[in-house]
Amino acid sequence: MASELFAPITLRGTTFRNRLWVPAMCQYSAENFDGMPSTWHLVHLGSFARGGAGAIVTEAAAVVPEGRISPQDLGIWNDEQREAYRPIVDFVHSQGSAIGVQLAHAGRKASTPRTWEPQNGTLSEAEHGWPVVGPSAIAFDGYDVPRELSADEVQGVVDAFVAAAVRSQQAGFDFVELHAAHGYLMHQFLSPLSNTRTDQYGGSLENRARIVIDAVRGIRAATGEAFPILVRFSATDWVEGGWNEHETATVADWARAAGADLFDISSGGIAANAVIPVGLGYQVPLAASVKADGGVETGAVGLILTAEQAEQIVASGQSDVVFVGREFLRDPHFALRAASELGEELPYYPQQYHRAPFHPQQRPAAAPAPSTGSGASGVTEERSPLVEARA
Ligand SMILES: Cc1cc2nc3c(=O)[nH]c(=O)nc-3n(C[C@H](O)[C@H](O)[C@H](O)COP(=O)(O)O)c2cc1C
Repeated sequence: MASELFAPITLRGTTFRNRLWVPAMCQYSAENFDGMPSTWHLVHLGSFARGGAGAIVTEAAAVVPEGRISPQDLGIWNDEQREAYRPIVDFVHSQGSAIGVQLAHAGRKASTPRTWEPQNGTLSEAEHGWPVVGPSAIAFDGYDVPRELSADEVQGVVDAFVAAAVRSQQAGFDFVELHAAHGYLMHQFLSPLSNTRTDQYGGSLENRARIVIDAVRGIRAATGEAFPILVRFSATDWVEGGWNEHETATVADWARAAGADLFDISSGGIAANAVIPVGLGYQVPLAASVKADGGVETGAVGLILTAEQAEQIVASGQSDVVFVGREFLRDPHFALRAASELGEELPYYPQQYHRAPFHPQQRPAAAPAPSTGSGASGVTEERSPLVEARA
């Protein structure tokens, strides 16, 4: 039976070759504190494209400098950064994959050290940090109290998201993803735990969601009808009285009406004391409930580790695509391996690697096939019978 995971999916003007996608993963590697992507990012993101992924989302790219999580985060707030993404986009396209930018503002969780550094909390200016902002003057546990943004400044943030989306489209990216999850600025507005405003950006669900809906509407107007927009939500804060999956489904439906196309469903990040039932595929039911209740297309993410598990999620209709993060870090060819395990012959196996196929029946037996070549290792440049059999 044909794999549903490896069936293409179309969002607006873009057809994605399969439904096994790589989510945003910060690399904290813009070493000059300028938000510029480098060779590291080219190799890191490019390897997933070579490895068969259907789409790749860049790590959180800040729409303004003070929106970076760490001083070494990527940015998309100026045209120099836009130009530096082009080689990455071109390479990913050369491998047949699609790539989008995760547009982000960290709000009260900005200005923090890289995850591998021992210290935690907000960095001082002497440590390349900066003062943080948020919807309300409520700190994340152990971090600085943010300065409350004025209503004009909130509009400025929306404008920065729109400008960054336009820059992304100009750089050749296929789509953007708004980061409204993991306790960062947009999620801080959505959750009543971090938003106690009394103006048009606080209080009712409609008001708390306004920043997200305005950004989606603005991006749709500025990028045209063909450009897909994804939104990543934390579907629940995992805290009593916090943001939950019912509100997520409602706001996802509003965002769809404003021009968004697919919702990448994660969870948590707003409260340090949340008790999260982490386990295999633990967020998949959230993607399924947002899909069913909101009537929207979703992506599932979180501890999806095997081809069979990913296939089952899509085939059972729990989500439309599957995001696999750390397993792609462990094996950038995860998609090629998954296809082989599901018995799918992909037309995009890299030609340069055609002598090292994943499929067990195509692998050389313990004793390599006789070769007429002279390489000491027995592996030569000539076409082997094994390769002929595949051709
Ligand atoms: C190194 C690393 C960096 C991450 N950076 C981001 C990020 O920039 N934006 C985001 O939305 N999620 C980020 N995440 C979360 C992942 O996108 C994903 O949701 C999470 O790792 C769970 O999926 P997994 O179990 O397949 O890894 C990051 C995760 C890792 C491991």
